[in-house]
Amino acid sequence: MSKEEMKIGRRFEGKVAIVTASTQGIGFSIAERLGLEGAAVVVSSRKQKNVDEAVEKLKNKGIQVLGVVCQVSNAQQRKDLINKTVEKYGKIDVVVSNAAANPTVSLLLETPESVLDKVWEINVKASVLLLQEAAPYLQKGSSVVLISSIMGYHPQIAMAMYGITKTALLGLTKLNIF
Ligand SMILES: NC(=O)c1ccc[n+]([C@@H]2O[C@H](COP(=O)([O-])OP(=O)(O)OC[C@H]3O[C@@H](n4cnc5c(N)ncnc54)[C@H](OP(=O)(O)O)[C@@H]3O)[C@@H](O)[C@H]2O)c1
Repeated sequence: MSKEEMKIGRRFEGKVAIVTASTQGIGFSIAERLGLEGAAVVVSSRKQKNVDEAVEKLKNKGIQVLGVVCQVSNAQQRKDLINKTVEKYGKIDVVVSNAAANPTVSLLLETPESVLDKVWEINVKASVLLLQEAAPYLQKGSSVVLISSIMGYHPQIAMAMYGITKTALLGLTKLNIF
């Protein structure tokens, strides 16, 4: 552990945090930070190899970690993510819905239907379904984090539908869902 990491506080001691799409990129960094602050973290993504590598890296930093394969639009794999978390840790305190897709850079009026379906499915629908599945285990004080983007506030013409799915996530944060 680096000197900088040793200075980090332990705000998440005793907490259990699920982060989707967390074997690389922003999701991995979120999982790492939560873990360094004391949480037991559950990392997940589509590929077993990536999950295994992320688990190894986090364990090497002294973080309590469980790895589960979960492609977020796969219902069975979402269920596995929740069930394996609860089997191992008995509860869920934090859910970070981080997975997103942005398969093409195309103008809205030229965006293929398959791309429209994919960005809504991964970026929005899977987030809502994951929350529905996690809800029975969340309690007062639990946290749900939906990773949006600056493009949610300012959609750009070349990635308009991606941006608007991120606007939808901002809308979801305005709801008192529990
Ligand atoms: N990067 C940016 O500049 C930026 C800016 C603003 C907001 N964001 C948002 O931040 C979040 C993370 O972005 P990022 O750039 O870190 O993403 P990224 O680098 O593309 O994330 C890759 C990670 O996601 C996993 N993954 C990809 N598709 C998945 C799926 N369908 N289900 C589960 N796991 C999946 C990958 O592992 P596998 O290959 O093993 O699945 C890998 O662990 C997204 O919500 C994005 O919209 C990013």
